[in-house]
Amino acid sequence: MTASLLQPYRLNDTLTLSNRFVMAPLTRCMAGPGLVPTDLMAAYYGRRADVGLIVSEAVIIRPDGQGYPNTPGLYSPEQIAGWRKVTDAVHAGGGKIFAQLWHVGRLSHPFFHHAEVLAPSAVAFEGTVPRMRELTYQVPRALTVAEIAQLVLDYAQAAANAIDAGFDGVEIHGANGYLIDQFLHHDSNQRDDEFGGSPEKMARFALDVVDAITARIGADRTALRLSPGGYVHLKGDARDRAVFDYLLAQLDTRALAYLHVGIFDDNMTFDYLDGRASDYMRAHYRGNLVGVGQLNADSAAEAVAANRFDLAAIGRPLIANPDYIARVRDGAELVAYSESMLPELV
Ligand SMILES: Cc1cc2nc3c(=O)[nH]c(=O)nc-3n(C[C@H](O)[C@H](O)[C@H](O)COP(=O)(O)O)c2cc1C
Repeated sequence: MTASLLQPYRLNDTLTLSNRFVMAPLTRCMAGPGLVPTDLMAAYYGRRADVGLIVSEAVIIRPDGQGYPNTPGLYSPEQIAGWRKVTDAVHAGGGKIFAQLWHVGRLSHPFFHHAEVLAPSAVAFEGTVPRMRELTYQVPRALTVAEIAQLVLDYAQAAANAIDAGFDGVEIHGANGYLIDQFLHHDSNQRDDEFGGSPEKMARFALDVVDAITARIGADRTALRLSPGGYVHLKGDARDRAVFDYLLAQLDTRALAYLHVGIFDDNMTFDYLDGRASDYMRAHYRGNLVGVGQLNADSAAEAVAANRFDLAAIGRPLIANPDYIARVRDGAELVAYSESMLPELV
C-alpha cells in the first residue's frame, strides 16, 4: 500500500512533488551567529531531498519573534544567503522545500532580543522557556492595531525573502500556540477591537497574513499550518470552534498550496471538534491537506487511501533516518528516534 505514497503528487499547477511524503518542520536550534543557517544545515536538508516536500524548521520573521536559542531567521541578507545554500542543496537532490514562517508572540523573551514581548492580549503563558529553564515567560504587551499592520508587512517581506533565498514556497506557522494561533484561541485573544471578540475578528490576523503573502508570492506557493485543537502553549475552548469554522470557510476560497495540521499525534481527539483535528479540517476545507503526528508509512498510506488527507508529514522518524524514503521503498527497518539525537545534525 505504501507504494501509492511514493508516486508523484501534483500539488497545483506550479508544484509537482516526487512523492506524498512531507518532512514536518523540526526546530533544531543550530543556526550560526546572526541566526544564519550553516553549511551543516544545508547538508542535513540536502540529505533528505528525496522527501516529496521538505518544510524547513520554523524560521523567525523578525528578531522579536524568537522564543528558542539559535533558531534561524529570514530577515537579514546574511540569513537569505545562508538559506540559499540550503535550498541549492535540496534542489540539487531533486527536492522541493518550503520555509516555515514563525513569530512566537507571547512565547518570546527579551533575553533573545532586548525588546518587548508582544501578543494579542496581555495574558502570559505560565512556564519557562525550553532549553533555558531559568527564564520565565513574561506578561506580554497587547499589540496595537498599527503594530499588527506592521507584523503583516513583516510576514510578507519574510515570504519575499524566502523566494529570494530559493525556497519553493512558504508555510505560515499558524499552529502550536505561537503568534497567529494566539489570535485564534480565546485563551490568548481577549481583544475587543477589530482583531478580537467574534470569530470573524479573531480570524482576521491570520487571513491578513495569508492575503499579504499570497499577494506577494502567489497562493500556489503559500501554505498554512493550523491547530484548531488547542493542545500546546494555550488551552482550547469550545468557543474556538466557531473561529476555525469561519477561518476554514474563508481559506477554502483562496487556493493555497495546502493546509497542514499542527499536532503531535493524529489520534488525539477534541470534544469541540467532534474528534481528530485532521478529520475536522478535512470536513471544512476542500484543498490539499497534510496530515501528521505519529504516522508511519503504513498508517499514512491507510489514511491517504481512506481520503483522510492527501500528503503525510513525518517528523521524528526523519530526524532518526535521513534515508527514510529509501528505507520505506526497500521495506527496510527504521532507526528508532530518541531525544538524545537532537544535539547533532545528521
Ligand atoms: C524536535 C522537534 C521540533 C519541532 N519543531 C517544529 C517546528 O519548528 N514547527 C512546527 O510547526 N512543528 C514542529 N514540531 C512538530 C512536528 O512538525 C510534528 O508535528 C510532530 O513531531 C509530530 O510528527 P511526528 O510524530 O512524525 O514526529 C517539532 C517536533 C519536534 C519533535
